[in-house]
Amino acid sequence: MKIQEILKTQPETNETLATILNRSSCRRFTSQELTSAEIHTLLLTMQRAPSAGNRQPWHFYIIFNQEIKEKLVEASHGQKFLADAPVVFAITAKPSESAARYGDRGAELYSIQDTAAAIQNLMLAAESLGLCSCWVGAFDDQTVVEILNLDEQRPVALIPIGHREGKTVMTKRKPLEEITTILD
Ligand SMILES: Cc1cc2nc3c(=O)[nH]c(=O)nc-3n(C[C@H](O)[C@H](O)[C@H](O)COP(=O)(O)O)c2cc1C
Repeated sequence: MKIQEILKTQPETNETLATILNRSSCRRFTSQELTSAEIHTLLLTMQRAPSAGNRQPWHFYIIFNQEIKEKLVEASHGQKFLADAPVVFAITAKPSESAARYGDRGAELYSIQDTAAAIQNLMLAAESLGLCSCWVGAFDDQTVVEILNLDEQRPVALIPIGHREGKTVMTKRKPLEEITTILD
């Protein structure tokens, strides 16, 4: 089969696929808070993420505190929109929990992959609730460790979540032909 044949077909559509295909990052938020039910839902979707050996080597911080948000702006080289979001999720990996079963591969690879899967669930769930988010990964690890008082945890992402202010802008992607190889 050739990639061109696949790309000629009409792709399937449903609500889940629409959520995945319509998600885009946002960096401007209204002041509208999230409801407790929304936060509960977001937590459940992270909890259900797959993880190697079901070790669940992650921890979720939910930050409403404005002073802590401002410190996270500094830790992330001045990414001010973190402090404008009504809530920031900080998601950390616990490499030792994966290392206990899988050694170095668990610590270096699985714990980060597992945590990234939880983060993607969070962002897609936010999109499906009509919220928006942005993955912030550019921060000084040690500063975030100190701000959140982390012990044996590696901060993987800061995710501001809220209601979008302004229009959605979809970013471009490389063509599928360029990023796909078919081995018949
Ligand atoms: C690992 C990772 C780190 C990222 N770090 C940042 C960041 O520090 N600041 C930021 O504004 N966006 C950050 N992003 C968001 C990307 O810029 C964004 O996902 C990409 O441009 C594609 O746009 P989209 O999410 O709207 O599709 C990061 C995304 C990932 C996956």
